[in-house]
Amino acid sequence: MLRKPLDDIVKGGEGDTHRLTKTLGPVSITAMGIGAIIGAGIFVLTGTAAARYAGPAIMLSFVLGGIVCGFVGLCYAELAAMLPVSGSSYTYTYVTLGEVFAWMIGWDLILEYAMGAATVAVGWSGYMVSILRDIGIVLPPSLTAAPGTIVRLADGGTASGIVNLPAAFIVAVLTVSLVFGTKESARLNNIMVVVKLVVVVAFISIGAFYVKTANWHPFIPPNTGEYVHFGLSGVLRGGAVVFFAFIGFDAVSTAAQEAKAPQRDMPIGILGSLAISTALYVLVAAVLTGLVPYGDLDVPDPVAKGVDAIGLTWLSIVIKIGALSGLTTVVLVQLYGQSRIFFMMAQDGLLPRLFASVHPATKTPYLSQILIGAVVAIVAALTPIEVLGEMVSIGTLAAFVLVCAAVIYLRRSDARVRRPFRAPAVPVVPICGILSCLLLMSGLPLVTWLRLVVWLVGGLGVYFLYGRRHSLLRQRAAR
Ligand code: ALA
Repeated sequence: MLRKPLDDIVKGGEGDTHRLTKTLGPVSITAMGIGAIIGAGIFVLTGTAAARYAGPAIMLSFVLGGIVCGFVGLCYAELAAMLPVSGSSYTYTYVTLGEVFAWMIGWDLILEYAMGAATVAVGWSGYMVSILRDIGIVLPPSLTAAPGTIVRLADGGTASGIVNLPAAFIVAVLTVSLVFGTKESARLNNIMVVVKLVVVVAFISIGAFYVKTANWHPFIPPNTGEYVHFGLSGVLRGGAVVFFAFIGFDAVSTAAQEAKAPQRDMPIGILGSLAISTALYVLVAAVLTGLVPYGDLDVPDPVAKGVDAIGLTWLSIVIKIGALSGLTTVVLVQLYGQSRIFFMMAQDGLLPRLFASVHPATKTPYLSQILIGAVVAIVAALTPIEVLGEMVSIGTLAAFVLVCAAVIYLRRSDARVRRPFRAPAVPVVPICGILSCLLLMSGLPLVTWLRLVVWLVGGLGVYFLYGRRHSLLRQRAAR
């Protein structure tokens, strides 16, 4: 097994640590987490998951997702504080389970980041179309949805989608801004976080007065006889779908080197942002299913539909604009994250140098960013959101399993390396993380599993055809 030497990273990282200023306290780190977390999961997928699988019990699905991410978050916090490099599960896996697994994780992270960006872009499109409609601009429905998607028209009729142009548009715009080096500054991020939070809290606190409790009955609608269509199995499937809403807390781990006190701030940041998001999600789900009968929530902009049920036009516009700006930052962060993961893989020789080439003036990996933007835009234009969302969930859950395994492995293989933060009760917590991820994965449909297998086998093919032959670590080891 070819492992990247841990010492190199820890030592190299220590150098970095001295260069980076330790400026982040628990509040900034928590805000960063919330900024990366709240997006299409709550603004879009909640509706689909409630309408198709869990009904009002979608609230329980969110609790389930929060618990799973809590276990995984503790493991992330340990690795992030211990390996002070770009905190990605790709690097963690390279030093623990070796190159093949690292490659698989890197490949798998394409699902989390690039496909995640496409998913959120489709969510963005749903809200954009809705805002434009409010101001009297009606885009042709066939140009706002992927092929095979049935769009419900205002007059009660239906149309089928051909291409989702607004989704491709937002990806293109954000790609251009990333190429030109537009960086999401901490200040901008904090503003966006505040906007998102205000919108979500406004929805909860105003919507609560209009809830019709009758809509919550039955709380767990009886199973229809088909697995995962309501009943407890439906809550599980709902959890697997809305797990998407929690993705992003892992981004907090990348700030480990800049935390003033990682031992204290990492768990606070990761678990704090998770706890706040979970609480908000459960409340939004409660209000939403209380405002609108769950069967009617299978729309591209369910939260807007909830506000329409309240009947306050001004609130509807505010919520939609808030949702739109929140979704924009998530797409931006994911497109950015994808290019940085490819950057690391290319530096290790596992991907062509093109992915590590930086523009002399803008200092961004422009070629990589353009390539990623083009692919993500095409996928977003042509794929229905639920297919995308489920792929992102299963891919990320698979990566999380390996992160938990890496914690157990490293505790044995490299027991003496300093760990500024130690996950409690190892191996119990990582094992709970692994089992709960597998539980959520079991709630996803067979076709999603098959897609994951095809994706990973394809990835393995690329590894043997390219990555293995060009791996710098392998070349060094052969000398
Ligand atoms: N958690 C992020 C979202 O829901 C990915 O958009």
